[in-house]
Amino acid sequence: MVLFNDFVTEYKSIKRDIDSAIRRVIDRGFFILGPEVDNFEKNFAKYCGAKYAVGVASGTDALYLSLLASGIGRGDEVIVPVNTALATGIAVTMSGARPIFADCDENFLIDIKVIPSLITKKTKAIIPVHLYGRSCDMKMLVAVAKKYKLVLIEDCAQAHGAMWHRKKVGTFGDFGCFSFYPTKNLGAYGDAGAITTNNEHCYKKLKALRFYGASDRTTSTLFGINSRVDEIQAAILNAKLARLDEWNKKRKNIAALYRKLVTNKNIALPKPAKDNEHVYHLFVARAKNRDAIIAALKKNGIHTMIHYPVLLHQQPIFKNIKQRGTFPHAEAYAKEIFSLPIHPFLKEKEIIHIAKALNVV
Ligand SMILES: Cc1ncc(COP(=O)(O)O)c(C=O)c1O
Repeated sequence: MVLFNDFVTEYKSIKRDIDSAIRRVIDRGFFILGPEVDNFEKNFAKYCGAKYAVGVASGTDALYLSLLASGIGRGDEVIVPVNTALATGIAVTMSGARPIFADCDENFLIDIKVIPSLITKKTKAIIPVHLYGRSCDMKMLVAVAKKYKLVLIEDCAQAHGAMWHRKKVGTFGDFGCFSFYPTKNLGAYGDAGAITTNNEHCYKKLKALRFYGASDRTTSTLFGINSRVDEIQAAILNAKLARLDEWNKKRKNIAALYRKLVTNKNIALPKPAKDNEHVYHLFVARAKNRDAIIAALKKNGIHTMIHYPVLLHQQPIFKNIKQRGTFPHAEAYAKEIFSLPIHPFLKEKEIIHIAKALNVV
């Protein structure tokens, strides 16, 4: 059986560090917003090249709190790609604003060219998603956001460590929103998230917003919520952050091996990216006979997934939100895409087995 993720092997490879991190928290007896969270926030900000990082309960909350910190809510519109995880759209509706969907380009990233046609007086922000681990064109996005005076919130949930021209994602916009859901390139052992920012005012506001809107332990001055990353998750994330670059490199090597071994002309592999522009959270290929391929791989014990079969404008929850865009690329790709295993513990012989199965479909 070739697994899509292998958390047991990962844990075994770092068992000593993880066990001692968890033990340290339990022995200390301090579980929420303590030294592990402080340490992780500092380490993660440094890793990203951002001034600040704020730990929160999830990637969804990271997006929601960034919108809240920007004063975005009812009556406002926020542009998001139509092909992304549900959470990107849900976070917008949580704020009370209306998600306005944009089509994608050939790399599955938000089509920046269509953004101006979606902007109205109500538009307040853009949330580009560095989907599958590949950075969007941040030069163009920063220029569009500046031109139309929009808040730029990067959804980095799938792109820890990815770069745009040697600068890490999460440092271009006003906010960088990360998820540490277990499957992510940097994953916790439960739910967790973080927001990066270079703006001190936003940083202070986010710290209050994640803690009931309180600037001290007792007095709430803002509409805030409870959205904290706990000490055990922060300790685990600190231990895993030290391995992130090594694991991302393994993902890149696997992508290169797929490119070398998969010769089936009916399968379009993702286009190669420049150095570190792509950290391969997912390796998403396309084929007209996608369903037959998935069935053949399953027969060979190979687990695949589809990210994402249902686009946001097709989701029942968003169906009644009037849209002004059209989504020909995303709709065509949704019928053809499939994700192959690419976790750092995938063995070479497993990749060869997958490629062989793909080449004979
Ligand atoms: C692109 C994207 N945005 C946001 C999220 C939300 O993260 P979380 O599951 O931690 O709330 C995810 C993860 O599922 C994601 O893939």
